[in-house]
Amino acid sequence: MSFIYFDNAATTALSNEVLEAMMPYLKSNFGNPSAIYSLGRVNRLAIEESRKTVASLLGAKASEIFFTSCGTESSNTVLQSVVDSLDCTHIISSPIEHPATLNTLKTLAKNRNIKVDYVKLTKSNDIDFDDLEQLLSTTDKNVLVSLMHANNEIGNLLDVERVGNLTKKYNALFHTDMVQTIGHYPISFFKLKVDFASGSAHKFHGPKGSGLLYISSNVKLGPMIIGGGQERNMRAGTENVANIIGFAKALELSLAQLEKDQTFIRELRSYCLNELLKHYGNIIKVNSAEDGLYTVLNVSFPQNEKTDILQMALDMKGICVSGGSACSSGAAVGSHVINHINPTANVPLRVSFSKHNTKAEIDTFIIALKELLA
Ligand SMILES: Cc1ncc(COP(=O)(O)O)c(C=O)c1O
Repeated sequence: MSFIYFDNAATTALSNEVLEAMMPYLKSNFGNPSAIYSLGRVNRLAIEESRKTVASLLGAKASEIFFTSCGTESSNTVLQSVVDSLDCTHIISSPIEHPATLNTLKTLAKNRNIKVDYVKLTKSNDIDFDDLEQLLSTTDKNVLVSLMHANNEIGNLLDVERVGNLTKKYNALFHTDMVQTIGHYPISFFKLKVDFASGSAHKFHGPKGSGLLYISSNVKLGPMIIGGGQERNMRAGTENVANIIGFAKALELSLAQLEKDQTFIRELRSYCLNELLKHYGNIIKVNSAEDGLYTVLNVSFPQNEKTDILQMALDMKGICVSGGSACSSGAAVGSHVINHINPTANVPLRVSFSKHNTKAEIDTFIIALKELLA
């Protein structure tokens, strides 16, 4: 079945070149990377080469890069391990973080008695820096700030440099969820005062189940998953070699033609927004920031019997869009982000783009909307 795929913030199509790079490690090179014979050593070598590649692409030392099973695991590791191994008792975050962060924080507050504060947002749904500074300046505890670089639903971007400077002023640790930005923006950890960051390959045409955890060499974090000594004792478990190769290859490919892809996707997003405003300007509310994540466009339609089933009806026409985050296993729960920023009854639609989309697809999408909302 042919379809139009506008849910690239949920996941992206695996690139053929990435798959090709992964194949030998799914088939002939099946040895355990920890084995001392050459069938194993070839895999160890491939992992370490991938680590070096990723480190050089992200402006980090190879020793600061750890491979995990997903972005969720990376964020869980940071949040749980700062409590376990760095005696952190206070975490400052925001109410519109991804569930990988929010639900972990709820668990830490309940089970470990960790104080969690949620920083206020400005009218444009950005972090209120005055409130963040107020929270940092009045705490007497070991504190971690965890704020996402780009919101996956509305695309607001965080000034990571500014948060980094502020956290260092107050001697706080800083974790940022970069799942929507690694592979989509040039990032150099050498230039940022970030202690921890999470990334995920499937957001930039890499394999699913392949995560990245950046840990600054200034910090000594303990592991969350305990077992063998893989990932220099930071993440036990036999490495998913093919997915690690896939992470590095996908990042290399994304960053190699970043400017070209960014320009193309920005144009698509702006074309789609203009078309939506042309036809529905009087009824929709634009939830995404104009200067936000260039892959994501989020608008709300007023709630009625037609918009209630809009996502499903678009699916019947072969158009994949999302109502919010893809991480609720298809459960029909309202988006916590939209509910927070705009609690009136409305139906959010997130259209998220990749280099594989076209203007013609947007035209088809607009025609479908006209038919369904007529
Ligand atoms: C901002 C953000 N953080 C974390 C995640 C979770 O990443 P993963 O699917 O690799 O666990 C996602 C995935 O949607 C995301 O968009």
